[in-house]
Amino acid sequence: MTHRRSPYEAPELYDLMFDTLDFDLAFWLAVGREAGGPVLDLCCGTGRILLPLLDAGVDADGVDLYRPMLARARKKAAAKGHRPRLAAADMSAFRMPRRYARVISAFNAFAHADTPDDQLATLRCARKHLLPGGAFVVHMSYPGPRYWAEPEGEPVMELEVRRPGDGRRIQMWDTRVKDVVGQRQRSEIEIREIDEAGAVAKRTGFETSQRWVYRYELELLFRLAGYARWEFFGGFAGEPLEGEEQQMIAWAWNGRARPRVKAPAGGGAAPRTKTRP
Ligand SMILES: C[S@@+](CC[C@H](N)C(=O)[O-])C[C@H]1O[C@@H](n2cnc3c(N)ncnc32)[C@H](O)[C@@H]1O
Repeated sequence: MTHRRSPYEAPELYDLMFDTLDFDLAFWLAVGREAGGPVLDLCCGTGRILLPLLDAGVDADGVDLYRPMLARARKKAAAKGHRPRLAAADMSAFRMPRRYARVISAFNAFAHADTPDDQLATLRCARKHLLPGGAFVVHMSYPGPRYWAEPEGEPVMELEVRRPGDGRRIQMWDTRVKDVVGQRQRSEIEIREIDEAGAVAKRTGFETSQRWVYRYELELLFRLAGYARWEFFGGFAGEPLEGEEQQMIAWAWNGRARPRVKAPAGGGAAPRTKTRP
């Protein structure tokens, strides 16, 4: 088995698994269109959200720690005639040459901020990059009791897709170990390529971890990071956050200025999958 440290060193596999995922796309397009200024996609990956924003005419840049993800985003953007400003940097210590109306963090990317120091530094860095009255908008799955109680320590198949070209089945298996007190999940991910006879033809292993946050914890972090006010929603349609199975959407505003728009609604239900990449 080939071992690679992070799944984000294999952007072609990320795209195979997730590029067609669009449960949140309408929401982020609404956020971008109504921003009234440039948008920074923090942890933009291969451009799952960034590219549609650019297609929609939004002036958007991207930051991501993993150069292979950025290289793929750049290539995909160029194929569509876009040349976004993309920077390789940690979310807690990036520097971009301009300020944004919105900094966005889609699809649980903030869970890769591993410690309270990382989280705080990320929120501070994002705020420094916001225009007055701008907002940092973050989407995180909510780590409710059912999530923590799911079986762990054995491989669970998360996703199966057909690879374009040869039509081979590609499976993503995840062996999770959870640390409830540390609010952390460690994943050993195995990508299995299944041959025509149904046998595993190739295995590729990765490791990653995520640290989950709760509503009031994030509120305290916003407060410490110097945001002036914040709003929480329980889904992409602007529902109140009140159920453990909901997606958490948080807006943190830079400065006391009233936002020019109300938090937009858009997007569909979160996928009924265990996927929390
Ligand atoms: C779950 S993916 C989300 C990607 C993209 N936002 C999307 O919605 O498809 C998380 C992303 O965070 C990036 N990432 C992980 N750790 C990071 C860090 N410390 N700083 C910046 N980016 C990071 C990964 O390379 C990956 O692209």
